[in-house]
Amino acid sequence: MENLQKKANNVLMHTYNSLPFSLVSGKGCYVKDSNGKEYLDFIAGIAVNALGYNHPEFNKAIKKQLENIIHYSNLFLNKEQIELAEKLTLNSHFDKAFFCNSGTESVEAALKLAKKIGKTKKNGAWKIVAMHQSFHGRTTGALSLTGQKKYQSPFVPLIPGVFFAEFNNFDDLKQKIDSDVCAVIIEPIQGEGGIHPADKEYLKKVRSLCTKENIVLIFDEVQSGIGRTGYLFAHEYFDVYPDVICLAKGLGGGLPIGAILSTDKFSQFEPGDHAATFGGNPLVCSGANAVMTELLDNNLIEHAKEAGVYLKQKLIELQGKKSSIINIRGIGLMMGIEFSSGISGIISACREKGLLLVGAGEKVIRFVPPLIVTKKEIDKALDILENVIK
Ligand SMILES: Cc1ncc(COP(=O)(O)O)c(C=O)c1O
Repeated sequence: MENLQKKANNVLMHTYNSLPFSLVSGKGCYVKDSNGKEYLDFIAGIAVNALGYNHPEFNKAIKKQLENIIHYSNLFLNKEQIELAEKLTLNSHFDKAFFCNSGTESVEAALKLAKKIGKTKKNGAWKIVAMHQSFHGRTTGALSLTGQKKYQSPFVPLIPGVFFAEFNNFDDLKQKIDSDVCAVIIEPIQGEGGIHPADKEYLKKVRSLCTKENIVLIFDEVQSGIGRTGYLFAHEYFDVYPDVICLAKGLGGGLPIGAILSTDKFSQFEPGDHAATFGGNPLVCSGANAVMTELLDNNLIEHAKEAGVYLKQKLIELQGKKSSIINIRGIGLMMGIEFSSGISGIISACREKGLLLVGAGEKVIRFVPPLIVTKKEIDKALDILENVIK
């Protein structure tokens, strides 16, 4: 492994402080490293591997597609993509889909769509209001909407016209709204910012305000969407329905896909406005269709909801035993535990004992396991964590 690290240092740009080993195989919620050591994986590629590893139906679908055709241009009709768009729209209030390759690209697409709507339907309105502590991705547009200095600082000035409001503070948002605002973008559960769910009442007020002021309401559900909350989409939990939604991560079950969905009223792209060479190609869509089938037809959403309730209950029990845990937050299988001090030691000790966990900021450990996780696996993960916390 030392050798691999050396090679990595030689040839990779230093964008990640990667751990000094790689993973070579996986099955269900478990992965193995190159020494044969097994880990229970509660990172899941950071909320990506919805079906875990080596899921038979997922593998079958992509193998079949692989042997037929993996890519052709969107210049041709794409059956797998249309099937995926049908699954997403028939199971939501949205009417239309656009496919891209990642979360940040889905935010770029939503941003362009909102800007076009502002220009053509709202007298040239061009400003966007985003939230402090948000995370929307690393490309220039998405980074402009990301309300965290640590990500933005090396790259300012970013795109103009972005204003930040305090998350869950309706009065602050209201103050930021004027007739030049074309869109508001919110993560219904802030993920990278530390697993902070929005207040239901707050989101309802935001919805009413956007409708009244003719502002596009965008929900970034890149991390919280696709079954993670125990609902297909997080906004169903909140009972608040955005005009546009951003999706990625779990949708492809490990294959790179992003999407935006919108209602017909807001579906204002025309040929030439936006595109992606690889966006929604047959291979990634065949994988995403398998994920959607598991969620919708094979009870995975209900399973995730039940597992999420169990996880929360166990985390609350753990908090009762450990005074260093100061808060438990989240919905479904997107949970965070906040500690009174830094978490890096806890994460590495858990890894030693065979549990993979990831942080969300300095003091929050995030739980985003595969949606197929069982109660037994949750028990095992929490046993390891309990033993590790002093
Ligand atoms: C809410 C949210 N939006 C956007 C992104 C960016 O997604 P990607 O890394 O696929 O570009 C992330 C990634 O963590 C995210 O959590």
